[in-house]
Amino acid sequence: MAHADPDSANTLRRMVEGYQVSQAIHVAATLGIADLLADTRRTSDELAAATGTHPPTLYRLLRALASLGLLHELEGHRFELAALGQPLRSDAPDSVAGWAAFVGRPYYWQAWSGLLHSVRTGENAFRHVHGTDVWSYRSAHPEESAVFDRAMTTLSRRANAALLATCDFGRFRMLVDVGGGTGALIAAVLAAHPGLQGVLFDQPHVVSAAAALLARAGVAERCRTVGGSFFEAVPEGADAYVLRAVIHDWEDDDAVRILAQVRRALGEGSKVLIVERVIAPPDEGRDAKFSDLNMLVGPGGRERTREDFVALLEHAALRLERVLDAGSFCVLEAAAADT
Ligand SMILES: C[S@@+](CC[C@H](N)C(=O)[O-])C[C@H]1O[C@@H](n2cnc3c(N)ncnc32)[C@H](O)[C@@H]1O
Repeated sequence: MAHADPDSANTLRRMVEGYQVSQAIHVAATLGIADLLADTRRTSDELAAATGTHPPTLYRLLRALASLGLLHELEGHRFELAALGQPLRSDAPDSVAGWAAFVGRPYYWQAWSGLLHSVRTGENAFRHVHGTDVWSYRSAHPEESAVFDRAMTTLSRRANAALLATCDFGRFRMLVDVGGGTGALIAAVLAAHPGLQGVLFDQPHVVSAAAALLARAGVAERCRTVGGSFFEAVPEGADAYVLRAVIHDWEDDDAVRILAQVRRALGEGSKVLIVERVIAPPDEGRDAKFSDLNMLVGPGGRERTREDFVALLEHAALRLERVLDAGSFCVLEAAAADT
């Protein structure tokens, strides 16, 4: 019998303990440690005073994070932010601060404890654990909705640059961002294309928090916000409809219902731009395959292969015209099937 490689065992053990790393980074993000270290070194006692935490225990957290390379530990329990920790700053262009602050929230953390149930039954873990779906839960818990929306907003900064570099929005007159959250994507697209008009469409309690972001981006006058449900109707009259990280939240039947509403809203020659990760061949594409598990656990959706998207679009009377590769995600461009 072949002996297991001891290094493999160690690598595997660290993977098994990945939840500890995730929660430690979550706590640092929640406390805003990276922002406090943005341009100065501080002792753990100073950081404890600034964050209202227990000094000797905060030190234990910080030295553990330094052992991972997010911080450097200097003489006298003094810490500085290392290169790996920079994206934990809320103002970093590629910030993951909002995402880290979200993923460890107790209600979401608990949902992941239902993964075994999901794998046994095929059912959504979140509903099994909380008795409701993520969107109803967040709607009833405004603070969780705000944390989630901030996570989406900060995650989208880097994705926006890649999207703008990949997809030519200058050819459109009016863009509807379907399930656009608090507007990070549409703000970036409108700012880059002064001739474009926009509509931000999402649930009423989500779009109601979009005004400040749209104003900061200087696009408020060109962007209407509309609250509603994409299962009922989507604003009509645009020549482009973008759905980013929306279709993956839903199983096929619901995804087709959303796309069918978008299909109904399309005018002559309108395009549908689906921005999602695409499942890679076997053994590749860790991010999409773990995001797929996250969809199973959280919203109850899935990531898809290119072929899955073709089938989904067909069921909504849409046709895939081309796929643009933006690195960590793709833009699947579709149009009405009968045009
Ligand atoms: C994963 S987030 C993506 C947000 C945004 N597109 C982005 O890329 O950052 C999914 C979005 O779908 C929205 N959503 C969920 N159910 C909805 C519904 N029935 N009608 C409209 N929007 C909905 C959520 O509020 C959320 O903003």
